[in-house]
Amino acid sequence: MRVLAIESSCDETGVAVYDQEKGLIANQLYSQIAMHAMYGGVVPELASRDHIRKTVPLIKAALHEASCGPSDIDAVCYTAGPGLIGALMVGATVARSLAYAWNCPAVPVNHMEGHLLAPMLEDNPPAYPFLALLVSGGHTLLIKVDGFAAYSILGESIDDAAGEAFDKTAKLLDLPYPGGPLVSELAKNGNPRAFKFPRPMTDRPGLDFSFSGLKTAASNALMHIDSSGGTKADIAASFEAAVTDTLVIKCSRALDQIGFNRLVVAGGVSANQRIRSALGELMDRRGGEIYFPRLSFCTDNGAMIAYAGMQRFLAGERAGNQIKVHPRWSLESVCINRSPAAD
Ligand code: KG4
Ligand code: ZN
Repeated sequence: MRVLAIESSCDETGVAVYDQEKGLIANQLYSQIAMHAMYGGVVPELASRDHIRKTVPLIKAALHEASCGPSDIDAVCYTAGPGLIGALMVGATVARSLAYAWNCPAVPVNHMEGHLLAPMLEDNPPAYPFLALLVSGGHTLLIKVDGFAAYSILGESIDDAAGEAFDKTAKLLDLPYPGGPLVSELAKNGNPRAFKFPRPMTDRPGLDFSFSGLKTAASNALMHIDSSGGTKADIAASFEAAVTDTLVIKCSRALDQIGFNRLVVAGGVSANQRIRSALGELMDRRGGEIYFPRLSFCTDNGAMIAYAGMQRFLAGERAGNQIKVHPRWSLESVCINRSPAAD
């Protein structure tokens, strides 16, 4: 079996082809970041228009890369949410039209499931079950993954997502969008102990997160930067250390709670080197296993949608008659295998 998949939930257009035997055989990506950077964030209408321009050329390029034609494709998968509604509609409409023209099924895919399963594209994929930490621009989730499509959310952010906190802190520090990687770059020259930032919600039980206070802490530090003798790099480093410690504490707590010793970390923020190594050290200390996607599969891409789409296709999932997208779409609502005991 072979599927073609389209990702268009935010500011990246991704198209990939995944073959059940050969694995990933095409992966095309176009990033709109340069276009949005001048506005300091994603402009939804511009994102939709750019997806319209890029999707069909990327599909052609992906088919060329995979050396195959429409008759070799058994299903067309697409990100149906969560994400920007206009952007999602572009991918959904193109995918549904192609499926109709090519006389094959269309399969909607949850973007967060794509992130969650991205490490499955690596040579040494994790075995089920595992704890997943999903850290992206829109979500921070701790998920008990009992198997494919068997997900229980253990904790989530009650305000800003981790990536959002990175991006807002970057803005405060006058760094362009998307600031996550740039905060991290700046932090390399800073002292993570220069400013005392909180480790939000770690002083009480529970697995939820709250990152909006860190942005306020960064803003306060910036206001007093002259009197404190610190630098912007110190703020970046102190901020990054606070996010990292918080994620480590919550992952450790979640692993204790569910009795697992295998951790999967995915989503845009999982590209962060400090976070990758701190979580790696945690799993070393625990004698457990840790898995990440390769850096290019941490942020949005078509490959992860193709992998998740193939699993959904094989599980018999098909799009209904209407072209529906879901700007908000919980992972728990796409479970097919979750046992009641998981609650
Ligand atoms: O998963 P993703 O590409 O898009 C969403 O589904 O949200 O995540 C994008 C987020 C942005 O907030 C970006 O700043 C953040 O991931 N990010 C990083 C790094 N690379 C990307 N944050 C911290 N350090 C990084 N190296
Ligand atoms: Zn994403």
